[in-house]
Amino acid sequence: MVCLGNICRSPLADGVLRHKVNKLNLNIIVDSAGTANYHIGASPDKRMIATAKMKGVDIGFLKARQFEYKDFEEFDSIFVMDQNNYKNVIQLAKTDQDKCKVKLLLEVTSKVHRKEVPDPYYGTQTDFEEVYELVDQATDAIIESYLADEKG
Ligand code: 4NP
Repeated sequence: MVCLGNICRSPLADGVLRHKVNKLNLNIIVDSAGTANYHIGASPDKRMIATAKMKGVDIGFLKARQFEYKDFEEFDSIFVMDQNNYKNVIQLAKTDQDKCKVKLLLEVTSKVHRKEVPDPYYGTQTDFEEVYELVDQATDAIIESYLADEKG
């Protein structure tokens, strides 16, 4: 899961997907990163931690890191929150195979009629909750698609 700062949207998406993966005992490794280096080593934003906690998801243990080329080698799918993240991640890709791994998170579901998860950093509590709703829908779709592929 990738956003700009790795303190709001992507740690939430990381935590919510991890929570679902653990509950279902699935063999999926989940992680997150930011395209920027501003917040390396920082905990998620307090408002995002609180919003996740209200929904029963702990993200307080996560620490921000910057997206790096190695992530293309380590992960099968790279979900970005918005078009800027997409551009920044694609710039680091070396092969077509790398590029194919990168998708806008909300592309995974037809239930959401938006393309981007909006940056809540300068927003209100409602904006943080909206991020949660979008991430919740998208991570459900990721799990459904994984389970469908498993069944073959
Ligand atoms: P995120 O939100 O990309 O969802 O983690 C942001 C966090 C910090 C900043 C921008 C977006 N910032 O400019 O510091």
